[in-house]
Amino acid sequence: MASLGITAQSLSAYTVGVADEALVGEGIVRFVPEKFDSTVTPMLILSHEPASIGAKPAGWSLNPRYSVTDRGVECVIALPDGVSLYGGGEVTGPLLRNGQKIKMWNTDTGMYLVDGGSRLYQTHPWVMGVRPDGTAFGVLFDTFHKGELLTADDRIEFVAEGTPYKTYVIESATPQGVLKGLAELTGTIEMPPLWAIGYHQCRFSYAPESRAREVASTFRQKKIPCDVMWFDINYMDGFRVFTVSPDEFPDPKAMNDFLHDNGFKSVYMIDPGVKVDPDYFVYATGHDKNVFVTDAYGNEFHGKVWPGDCAFPDYTRPETRRWWGGLYKDFLANGIDGVWNDMNEPSVFDGPGGTIPENCMHRGGGNLPAGRHSMWHNAYGRLMVEASRDGIMAANPDKRPFLLSRSNILGGQRYAAMWTGDNAASYDHMKLSVPMSLTLGLSGQPFNGPDIGGFAGNTDGDLYGNWLGFGAFFPFSRGHASCDTNDKEPWAFGKDVEREARMAIERRYRLMPYIYTAFRAAHTDGQPVMAPVFFADPTDSNLRAEEQAFLIGQDLLVVPAFAEQPALPANFTQKLSLVKGDTKGKYQAELRVRDGSIIPAGRVVQNMTENPFEPLTLIVCPDADGNAHGTMYWDEGDGWSFRDGNYVEFDFTARREGRDIVVTINTVNGNYPLDIDRVNVEVLHNGKTYRAAGTAASPIKVKI
Ligand code: NOJ
Repeated sequence: MASLGITAQSLSAYTVGVADEALVGEGIVRFVPEKFDSTVTPMLILSHEPASIGAKPAGWSLNPRYSVTDRGVECVIALPDGVSLYGGGEVTGPLLRNGQKIKMWNTDTGMYLVDGGSRLYQTHPWVMGVRPDGTAFGVLFDTFHKGELLTADDRIEFVAEGTPYKTYVIESATPQGVLKGLAELTGTIEMPPLWAIGYHQCRFSYAPESRAREVASTFRQKKIPCDVMWFDINYMDGFRVFTVSPDEFPDPKAMNDFLHDNGFKSVYMIDPGVKVDPDYFVYATGHDKNVFVTDAYGNEFHGKVWPGDCAFPDYTRPETRRWWGGLYKDFLANGIDGVWNDMNEPSVFDGPGGTIPENCMHRGGGNLPAGRHSMWHNAYGRLMVEASRDGIMAANPDKRPFLLSRSNILGGQRYAAMWTGDNAASYDHMKLSVPMSLTLGLSGQPFNGPDIGGFAGNTDGDLYGNWLGFGAFFPFSRGHASCDTNDKEPWAFGKDVEREARMAIERRYRLMPYIYTAFRAAHTDGQPVMAPVFFADPTDSNLRAEEQAFLIGQDLLVVPAFAEQPALPANFTQKLSLVKGDTKGKYQAELRVRDGSIIPAGRVVQNMTENPFEPLTLIVCPDADGNAHGTMYWDEGDGWSFRDGNYVEFDFTARREGRDIVVTINTVNGNYPLDIDRVNVEVLHNGKTYRAAGTAASPIKVKI
């Protein structure tokens, strides 16, 4: 296929029939086209091949029509009137995707400038539709080949290279149900380590070691909560992956010990490009084992990235994935807690289109066929993070892995969290970061966020304060900055912004019990941690395009300070204050609680090694009848014992008795011995807060 111009006229189209259609889950139908060939499109997006459980239900309305044209294999699904469309994964532009066209060709796109932002670092051939009555559907095109997705009002049109691919259609009464169906097909995120839900501080790069120590210490001196320090490429020895600079980081173990002693975890970057240097153990062993991508003639392909000429692991090969994974053991033994895989589109500075030439070869193995780079390009990051994750797990089997990736495909949430790449320090990109993050959450990836403050270019205090004022509520909340920019730590913009930054991060930390519980729902049911406002009422057509405000979980509404006339659901009547003065903060997002809900909160801690439950606070927002309900999940925050029941799930209820609101705490599941001595209850009612305290053992009464 020469081009993917969606307007190109089809010269020689022919229809491809559907060879098999079957029900493979509740409300999930799989369509297998004629000429489907698993050796061209092996299973990478789905976590498993679902078994057929029956025939396609009678009256099923969304049916794919396949054809082969000069543009590739097209699949069109005609839509009824009035459908709101979402999805497409990592995209620029609006949350509501009607009338949008995106390309699927993973690209290193600084400031989202390549091709007008129509292709970014990841590929998600997935669309969710919500009908006027709030019922919803999802369409998954099961291919990772180069493609293009058009979401028009009357049809979804997808075209991809390769042979005909399967399509899955999910029907549900709600958008939440559609995402549950997507999770059934593609899996969910692993339960992250608790520290990864805290605030992260990053820069390209904190080096030398003394600077990293200084930044970490400043967080503690200034009492600004933070859990993670990040190490970008400058920690390496000449940008050689899996090495540490002997000059700038002479004793990485001692430095990581220092971080741990101060309640920090550390995350280090690993890129795919391996410096071509026969004296460097990674290159030498890789070369000996013949693990690298080759050119069309079978020679090792070399292209330039940070260290100069690099070879690129061919992750389609099981041998390569094993070798790559094996490199993590000694590296992580330096006391490294998490890994950041970057540049894995892959980005090649001197390659055509900024990547590996399309005629290079991947040799495959196992169920993955050999193929040209044109075929394997979009899967490169996904296969890399699978190899990385396996290696991290093998090195530290008793810990939950934390891996962040820039490139990935639909379903890749099983292996890594994602961030939205190199944004700009601008108000436009600040505002864009909300629909981008929401759209990823609607595409199976709940654990995501942008570079808060903006990566490229200088940031001023106003932009930083505004961004962190709501950015503290992204599922993945990390400040980052490029190498040639001003300092962007919370204290870099003067006292006023520092106070606001502390306040924003403290608000996140108070909500950790609630946020962790939302992550649990992401892990078990594929629910987004950060959800669009219309999730509060999918039948309210006024909410469908709202992309300034957003929900965290189901019960908390976040309205950024920049929001102008946001469309808000009617049933979030009460405003929430979490730290002194926050409702008057210049940059703080307005927080509102859903009527009828109970939000569990902790105290402000400086990091998640401290006990947040001294006390537990229940924020109760009774509905008109005086009732409210909430839950909380907690476990030991790392390791796997939660799989054997070492977790606890609380159920909170409130009901009105005369002038009292009576709050009861019940343990409904699990046997993790969480010690909660004291419980504070705050009832939000008619703009006022009514307080009482007690223990978890007996009901707590609050007079209103
Ligand atoms: C590109 C990444 O997107 C960015 O976050 C990182 O700082 C640089 N590479 C340097 O590693």
